[in-house]
Formats: sequence, C-alpha cells, structure tokens
Amino acid sequence: MEILEKKSILVTGGAGFIGHHLCRKLLEKDVNLTIYDNLSTGRIENVKDLPKPVKFVKGDVGNLETLENSVRQVDVIFHLAAQVSVPYSMENPVEDFKSNAYGTLNILELARKRDARVVYTSSAAVYGKPAKLPTPEDSPLKPISFYGLSKLVGEKYCNTYMEKYGLDASIMRIANAYGPRCRGVIADYITKIRKNPNKLEIIGSGMQSRDFVHVSDVVEALILLATSKEALGQTFNVGFGKTMTVVDLAKILLKMLKLEETVVTTTSKSWEGDLDIIWLDISKAREKLKWTPKTSIEEGLKNLINAERLL
Ligand SMILES: NC(=O)c1ccc[n+]([C@@H]2O[C@H](COP(=O)([O-])OP(=O)(O)OC[C@H]3O[C@@H](n4cnc5c(N)ncnc54)[C@H](O)[C@@H]3O)[C@@H](O)[C@H]2O)c1
Repeated sequence: MEILEKKSILVTGGAGFIGHHLCRKLLEKDVNLTIYDNLSTGRIENVKDLPKPVKFVKGDVGNLETLENSVRQVDVIFHLAAQVSVPYSMENPVEDFKSNAYGTLNILELARKRDARVVYTSSAAVYGKPAKLPTPEDSPLKPISFYGLSKLVGEKYCNTYMEKYGLDASIMRIANAYGPRCRGVIADYITKIRKNPNKLEIIGSGMQSRDFVHVSDVVEALILLATSKEALGQTFNVGFGKTMTVVDLAKILLKMLKLEETVVTTTSKSWEGDLDIIWLDISKAREKLKWTPKTSIEEGLKNLINAERLL
C-alpha cells in the first residue's frame, strides 16, 4: 500500500460496489484518484460518499478518446468497469461484449500509452461448470454465459498485451463478493425481506452453491495485485475458499434478523447461464501474495446488516 503513495490511480467502475470500497481504501493514502464510470449500474452516491473529493469522469470504457482525455498521467489502473449481469449478457451479448471485452481492450491500450500497471477484475464465471472442486486457476476455462466469455476475452487480451508489449498486469478471478452497497443474491434477499418479512422467494432451486467473499478481503487482494512483484503477469482466484448453497445463506441471514418464521420458497427454474456451483481454490493467492480472507460469512453478514448504507 505504501508503494501507491503519491501515485496517479484510475479506477474504472469506481461508482460501483467493489469500486466504492476500493476507492475508500486507496484514499487512506495520499493518491491522485480518478474514477471513470458510465453510471449504468453504478451510483453517483458511491462517489460522493467517499471521504475525500476525487475527480469523477462520466464515460464509457467503449470510448478510448474519452478515456485518454480523462487521465494525462496514470501509474495504476484498477479496471473494474463491466456489465456484470449474467441474464443481461444472455439477452444482449453485443452490449456485454462492448463493455467487457472491447472496454478492456481500450483500457489496455490506455495503459500501454501511459505505461501504467493494470489490475483486471475477472470472474469465477470464466470456468463455467468446474472440472475440479475447489477450482484452481489452471482449470479448463469453459464459460457457459456470454458474461463469462466476455470476461475471459478480457483476460486473453491482458495476457497478449503482457506478452507482446511487456505490459505490467495482473488478473483477479473473483467469486461472489458481498458487503455494504452490494448487488446480487444477498442484496436480492435483503430487498425482498424489507418488502415482506414473512416470505422470501429464492430464484432457482436454492441448491446453487456460491463462494462468498467479503468486499474488504477483495479490496485487500486488489491492492496486493497492484503492488506486489509476485502478482505481475499472474492470475489469482479470490474467494473465501468455501462454498454454501443459497438456501443455507438465506437461513443464516433470517436467523440473524430473528426472522426464522419467514417462509422460504424456491422457483423451479433459474436463469440461463446460472452456475450450479462456485468454489474457488485460493491457495495460490495465499502462497504467493500472503493474502488470506479474514471475514467469515457470519461476521460479514452482521457487518452488512449494521452498515450505515446497506445497499
Ligand atoms: N461482485 C462480484 O461478486 C463480482 C464477481 C466476479 C467478478 N466481479 C467483477 O468485479 C467488477 C466490479 O463488480 P461490482 O460487483 O462492483 O459491479 P457493479 O455493477 O457494482 O460495478 C460495475 C461498475 O462499472 C460501471 N460500468 C458498467 N459498464 C460500463 C462501461 N461500459 N463503461 C464505464 N463504466 C461501466 C457501472 O456503472 C458500475 O459502476 C466487475 O468487473 C465484475 O465483473 C464482481
């Protein structure tokens, strides 16, 4: 983290969930921070609520010219901007490609021109149906959604830029991040319970299993990917290293909220591209980066429920 002191940093997708927490952490140091985001799913409050004022540029990663104009000098780029919805990607593969694959190519081009180091946030979705559990980084990459495919294309571009141009980059495959301001299954549960605490409908069979990792642990790993020599040119899984069905997650959450009487139902069908299981092997990040996730799901949910800003 000391290495980042006085550095010029660009966070794409900084108005989003993980981006907000990353920027908060970066601002603990004296950094020159720019957030670049098209606010498609991100929120301007996530920028305004930061402890210090930062430069915010509203723009799309599909537009290289706006990107280039947003930062004259940049040392590190955390590339988080992405279309993140699997169902949306199945309905709109072209839009998904533009944000995730083409957008990443533009970021790499910017990094090449500015000689910046890049941290690219990929996803466990690149593995598709896992060949091995827990899934290590060298497992086959067979995405089953356009989202997983476009994130994988972004990875491939990162690898080729490293190989051909000597670009400094690292890739992080994130499992299921959660915490204050999150989206996804936990946000879905909380929104539904707020509307009607007597009933909770889970989309799908409820037996889909996920590897939930707290956003503070993800942020710590992101900083390590941007600062550690060991991370250069490498790809790391970042999860908690455990898996849990979404029905079990609902039970834990309801117990914490003292809502054990709530009726939990499931729908027979999930959405196209939904994975049965995510469970990442995180031993590479443990060994090479000395990173270890610290927040258990119980602690993380407690922290979320008590957060000033839940969603
Ligand atoms: N949250 C997770 O569990 C998870 C898991 C795996 C991977 N990831 C990856 O981590 C990154 C951050 O995810 P998040 O959960 O914070 O999602 P998020 O939706 O909260 O944040 C994404 C941000 O990117 C912005 N954005 C989207 N398309 C853009 C575009 N074309 N140009 C500029 N900005 C654009 C959105 O407005 C938003 O602020 C993404 O790259 C995502 O694929 C997240």
